[in-house]
Amino acid sequence: MENKRVQIFDTTLRDGEQVPGCKLNTKEKVIIAKKLEDLGVDVIEAGFPISSPGDYQSVQEICKSVSKTVVCALSRAVEKDIKIAGEALKYANNPRIHTGIGTSNYHILYKFNSTKEKIIERAILSVKYAKKFVEDVEFYAEDAGRTENCFLAKVCESVIKYGATVINIPDTTGYCLPEEYGEKIRFLKENVKGIHKVTLSTHCHNDLGLATANSLFGIMNGAQQVECTINGIGERAGNTSLEEIVMIIKQNSHLNMFTNINTKLISSTSRLVSECTGMNIQANKAIVGVNAFSHSSGIHQDGVIKKRETYESINPEDIGINNSSIILTARSGRAALNYRYKKLGFFLNKNSLNLVYSIFLKHADKKKEITDKELKIILEKANLNNKMLYISDRRNCNHKKINVM
Ligand code: KIV
Ligand code: ZN
Repeated sequence: MENKRVQIFDTTLRDGEQVPGCKLNTKEKVIIAKKLEDLGVDVIEAGFPISSPGDYQSVQEICKSVSKTVVCALSRAVEKDIKIAGEALKYANNPRIHTGIGTSNYHILYKFNSTKEKIIERAILSVKYAKKFVEDVEFYAEDAGRTENCFLAKVCESVIKYGATVINIPDTTGYCLPEEYGEKIRFLKENVKGIHKVTLSTHCHNDLGLATANSLFGIMNGAQQVECTINGIGERAGNTSLEEIVMIIKQNSHLNMFTNINTKLISSTSRLVSECTGMNIQANKAIVGVNAFSHSSGIHQDGVIKKRETYESINPEDIGINNSSIILTARSGRAALNYRYKKLGFFLNKNSLNLVYSIFLKHADKKKEITDKELKIILEKANLNNKMLYISDRRNCNHKKINVM
C-alpha cells in the first residue's frame, strides 16, 4: 500500500494570531513565514487582508519572502474581502484564496438571518469571484462540525462545481467527537460528487482538547490536509497543534502516511513563535513543552539513563533537541545524581556518591530543583569537613583525592 502524503496547512499567522494578547508585526510575521517554509509546511495562511492595512501589508510581504510554499489569504464570502485578498496575494508564486461562509443552523439563522438556499448561492458566488483572481480557491464551511452532513455535502458539491480546489471542514467550536468528525469526512468522501478532484481539509479547534484527535480521525477517514498552528495557538482553546499531528504521523508508520515536515526544526520553530507572540508554552505541552523530555522521579531517571526508550516513545533528536533532561529533585535517585555529576566531569565512586547523595537530599528537600551550580556547591561543601574520599576520574584514568563531608 502506497503511503499517503498529508499536506500541512499552517495558520499560525492567521487563526493563531487572532488570540487575545498575541500581536505580531509585519517583520515578525515574515521571519515566522520563512521559518515555516524551512520547516516544510505546504501552505502558509498569511492573514486576513481586509481586516486591517497592517494585515494586508503582512500578507504582501510574506508573498515576496517565500518562494515554494503556497501563500493563502482569508476572506469572508464577500466580494470586497475577496478582491482585497486577491490583491494582497499578487506577489505570491503560489497564491490561494480561502473563502467561505457559515453552514450550521446557528450561523444561517442567527448570524445571517438567511436560508440554506441563499447560503449555497453566496458560497457559489464567492468561489466564482475568487477564481477571477487565483486558480487555487479553498472553500470553508464554517461550523461544519455542527452542520448536518446532508446539507454540508450539498454545499461542498456546489462549490466544487464552480472550481473550488480545496474543501475545508472546520469544527469551528471544537464540538465534535473524533469518531463523529471522522464519519463526517467519510460521509463527504462517499457522497459528494467531484470530491476526488479536490483536497479535503480538516480544521479543528481545541475547546474540548480534541483538536488533534479530530484531525487524526479526519485524515484516517480520507482528508488529505490538516490545518494547524505552531504550539496549538488559536481562537479560544486553540487549533490543532502542528507538532502533535506531525509527530503522530511520524511515530505511527502503520498509518501509512507522511508529511513534508523537517521535524528537526520543530523545537526551534516552536520557540521562535513563542518568543515573537509572547505566548508562553505550557510546561507539559506535548512535544514542545519544557517538561516533554524531562525526567525527575528516581525510577524514571534510572530507566532513561539505562535506556532512553524505557520512558520515552519519541526521540527528542527527532524534533531538534539534543538530550532528554534529567531534573534533580528530592524524588531523584543516586543514578540521576551520578549522571549529572558525570556530565559536569565528576566521576564519583560508590562511597563518594552515597555521601554526596545524602547532602544532596537535604538540599533538594528544601528546593524544587537542584542546578549544576548547586551541585558544585554541594561538592565544595563536602570539602569543608576535611574527610578524605576518592572520586575516580575515568576520563584521565587516575584518581583525584578530594575532601568531602
Ligand atoms: O474555525 C474556523 O471556522 C475558521 C474558518 C474561518 C476557516 O477559522
Ligand atoms: Zn479556525
